[in-house]
Amino acid sequence: MMSSAPQQLAPITIITGGSEGIGKALAFEFAQGGLDLLLVARSQQRLDKTARQISTTHDVKVLTLKCCLADEDSGSKIAAFLKKQNHYCQNLVNNAGFGLAGDFAQHDEAAIRDLVNLNVRALTDLSRQFLPDMLARNGGGILNIASMGGFLPGPYQAAYYASKAYVISLTKALSWETWGTDVQISVLAPGPVKTRFHARMGARSELYVKSGAGISASKAARMGYSGFMCGKCLIIPGILSQLGAVALKIIPHDLLMPFMAWFLRARTQRNPKNGNRS
Ligand SMILES: NC(=O)c1ccc[n+]([C@@H]2O[C@H](COP(=O)([O-])OP(=O)(O)OC[C@H]3O[C@@H](n4cnc5c(N)ncnc54)[C@H](OP(=O)(O)O)[C@@H]3O)[C@@H](O)[C@H]2O)c1
Repeated sequence: MMSSAPQQLAPITIITGGSEGIGKALAFEFAQGGLDLLLVARSQQRLDKTARQISTTHDVKVLTLKCCLADEDSGSKIAAFLKKQNHYCQNLVNNAGFGLAGDFAQHDEAAIRDLVNLNVRALTDLSRQFLPDMLARNGGGILNIASMGGFLPGPYQAAYYASKAYVISLTKALSWETWGTDVQISVLAPGPVKTRFHARMGARSELYVKSGAGISASKAARMGYSGFMCGKCLIIPGILSQLGAVALKIIPHDLLMPFMAWFLRARTQRNPKNGNRS
């Protein structure tokens, strides 16, 4: 009787929230680098559209998985999908995330739980799930998407800013722990980026939105991808954000809080929001 040989697993780059915004732009960058992709998000329609766009311009395989990462079992769902498709996770891009604008005390409790589940728990679980195999293979890596908001407290976006502080702290620590290996651990911390992210969290009349400041998703992704590939741990795209990051290291945060509150506070009444529940 013939014994069936174990199936050779092929490498793939997982991009959470890869259907639009920064995640979609990152997907194009990794595809440009010739890497096969697994895009994970909740809307199958938008995933399919992005996968089609990438496949028509780049000769890579693009798989999609409809999955809500705020759900507890999302990690095992992704692992089962990879196994079924005979892939292993070469690179993990923890990009999916959302914000909540307004007074913390008035947010829907379930929305705050979803935010922590997506921005913190899912990112942590997926990193823990795939990092040991990356270390065993001594290759690949993790690119986490934080924000400049992770460098200081953000009144009126309190939970979001705090979640991104966690992402920066975790990534820097993992980068230290994996030093001396060929596994790359990076964090991308952009300032405002022009995507649907801000409208989704109900931020419309805030000064930072009205000022129109921000870089394109493709610029953020280009710098994120090249920084990751070049072995940078902390990647801050754009000269203004880089200068801002230096200022944030020098100026005491207590002095900056009134300015941040002024910048992030809504100028008009906001409709109650329900987080990013689809
Ligand atoms: N835009 C900015 O100014 C900015 C600045 C700094 C950092 N960031 C960070 O960059 C990352 C991407 O932001 P973006 O501006 O590209 O946001 P975006 O345009 O709103 O895109 C978010 C992506 O995440 C997916 N997603 C949202 N909730 C999900 C869930 N529960 N499960 C699975 N997928 C989910 C979305 O697809 P579905 O809705 O179909 O699930 C979409 O693909 C976030 O972590 C954000 O915090 C953004």
